[in-house]
Amino acid sequence: TLETESQFVGHLSEALAAIEAVGGPRPEVAIVLGSGLGGVVDKIEEPVRIGFADIPGFGQTTAAGHQGELVRGWLGGVPVVVMAGRLHRYGGWSNGQVVFPVEVMRRLGAERLIASNAAGGVRPGLKVGDIVVIEDHIDWMSGSPLARFSPQAEVDQVTDESRLLGSDPFARAPVPIGRGKKVYDEGMIQKALAAARQGGFSATCGTYLAVLGPNYETRAEYRMMRRMGVDVVGMSTVPEVLAAARMGMATLALSMVSNVASPDTAQQANHEEVLAAGQQAEPRMLQMVQAVLRK
Ligand code: 6GU
Repeated sequence: TLETESQFVGHLSEALAAIEAVGGPRPEVAIVLGSGLGGVVDKIEEPVRIGFADIPGFGQTTAAGHQGELVRGWLGGVPVVVMAGRLHRYGGWSNGQVVFPVEVMRRLGAERLIASNAAGGVRPGLKVGDIVVIEDHIDWMSGSPLARFSPQAEVDQVTDESRLLGSDPFARAPVPIGRGKKVYDEGMIQKALAAARQGGFSATCGTYLAVLGPNYETRAEYRMMRRMGVDVVGMSTVPEVLAAARMGMATLALSMVSNVASPDTAQQANHEEVLAAGQQAEPRMLQMVQAVLRK
């Protein structure tokens, strides 16, 4: 942890240099693509790609369906930076490592974040392939990415970086998130919903429960989640969203229901199912993303 955080300090400028070296437009929007949604990356015009392995400080993902690359280019006339593949806490990555790419994308210029994920549909009635626009979340991953330990010497060291980030990356007191606004941007939510209406498909709003994983849940847990008012459950997104909120980014997060998480179904979720559902939902996901990109 101490080691991880000091690495973050060292790697930020190196990561930026490596990315700037391959070129690409200054992004306005950062996009994080979840399991099975990686195909969105093929829609980027004039793509400039760099593998996570070639960016100092980026962890390398190996999960199937995750390419692990950063792509800069244009989507619907808007300059974007897209993370195809993300790091999950369950993979053993620290919070610092999971949110590092978001910090880098913010520093590249992105002022908005669109995050996506594959999630279990907890709310009765949700079907595989449905898209849920996240309007709020419950963080049960344990350990906020905003909790960072640093001795004073290190705090002094990061002053320049923190000024550029627009925030102190080390928390020394409890912090509000979303700068007094809601964490999930109301305007972006409405645009996403309007895109679904115009596209002739349905999308609903909901609460995302973030758990650590990597195991899927028991039926007793799904029963509990329903009673808690959870709509979708997954193992990602919340760390990135919290980091983005702390850096003043306006955020939209979309869940694609990859499987029904119900106390009544015998079937457990599996990774193939997740990928297949992603392919089915991809065109609709893209329509929503493109609508939100437009200012
Ligand atoms: Cl059913 N549970 C969790 N925790 N994450 C998921 C999921 C279920 N389906 C996709 N991701």
